[in-house]
Amino acid sequence: MTYHICLLPGDGIGPEVIAEAEKLLRALPLNVDFTYGEIGYAAYQKLGTPLPDETLEKVRKMDATLFGAVTTPPNIPNYFSAIIRLRQTFDLYANLRPCKSFDHPSSRPGIDLLVVRENTEDLYSGVERIEDNGDRAISERIITRKASERILRKAFELARQRGETKVTVVHKANVLRESDGLFRRIALEVAPAYPDIQMEEMLVDTCAMELIRAPEQFDVIVTTNLFGDILSDEASMLVGGLGVACSGNIGEKVAIFEPVHGSGPKIAGQHKANPTATFLSAAMMLDFIGESALGKRVREAVADCIAQNAVTEDLGGTLTTEQMTEEVIKRLGI
Ligand code: NAI
Ligand code: MG
Repeated sequence: MTYHICLLPGDGIGPEVIAEAEKLLRALPLNVDFTYGEIGYAAYQKLGTPLPDETLEKVRKMDATLFGAVTTPPNIPNYFSAIIRLRQTFDLYANLRPCKSFDHPSSRPGIDLLVVRENTEDLYSGVERIEDNGDRAISERIITRKASERILRKAFELARQRGETKVTVVHKANVLRESDGLFRRIALEVAPAYPDIQMEEMLVDTCAMELIRAPEQFDVIVTTNLFGDILSDEASMLVGGLGVACSGNIGEKVAIFEPVHGSGPKIAGQHKANPTATFLSAAMMLDFIGESALGKRVREAVADCIAQNAVTEDLGGTLTTEQMTEEVIKRLGI
């Protein structure tokens, strides 16, 4: 069987880490056919849009997509973030952000958690207005039954797949009585369908604190969009930061995997980008297309590489991006 994978390199260090991920995927015993798509600021300069229709078609048709990073310049009118538009276009409702300890000084031990973040609504719905001659700004926080139910079900399903027995539902229903009240009510409705999994509730501020105090207590955390954005960034710092933080945006038919980091303009072109975040995103993609044994092999090779301090500067090592890739490929056991 041949898998059709769409690669979206983007800007800055995006193309650098995607090139390394392609090397890694080509080193695996897997038939893959790669298609490249243009995206981001470079695409805008060339074609007048950061997300050409052709790219959308490629993402729609392929088995899965691996995205690098884009630069989103703040000062161009009508410009939009290509990745946010992709999430909306394909209704990629679940943002999955796993965090697992490495045997390395930059990581705390004992952590193996997954943040399941709702990816389509909440304060990111874009419903904002200005009143009082510009002195009053209002953003609407929209929480729906449909989006809440599917993200909560996804979290319980994923907990089962991971062989875990607990899901932590994070909210602020004591203050956001209507919006998070609805999210919480739906969690209480969904949970009984998963009798093998215990549902725990936690207020978001407590969760932020507990992640620092005792992160090893968490298995699957499920929450609304903004809280998930913040908590997952926080969690990634416990295990090594942006250079290692991977993610997947999952919809019904389409899935896009991406490192959490942006285009790293300060380090672009210097061979300093840590490819780990993209490798681990590629491993999530392998799980998604049904090649989880290969996904596991990639994760183990990366973990071993990091444990032996064969790493880039951000983790205190001396390797270039390309050298770290070689070290990981050496450890694939092929
Ligand atoms: P950034 O993630 O690009 O960089 C933040 C810091 O982390 C910098 O010090 C950078 O050098 C470092 N860093 C990031 N990735 C790294 C890696 N793989 N290895 C080693 N160090 C790494 O975020 P920043 O600087 O705030 O934004 C730069 C551009 O990226 C902006 O235009 C922003 O809009 C865009 N961005 C795009 C995202 C995406 O494509 N999903 C996500 C976040 C930002
Ligand atoms: Mg973020």
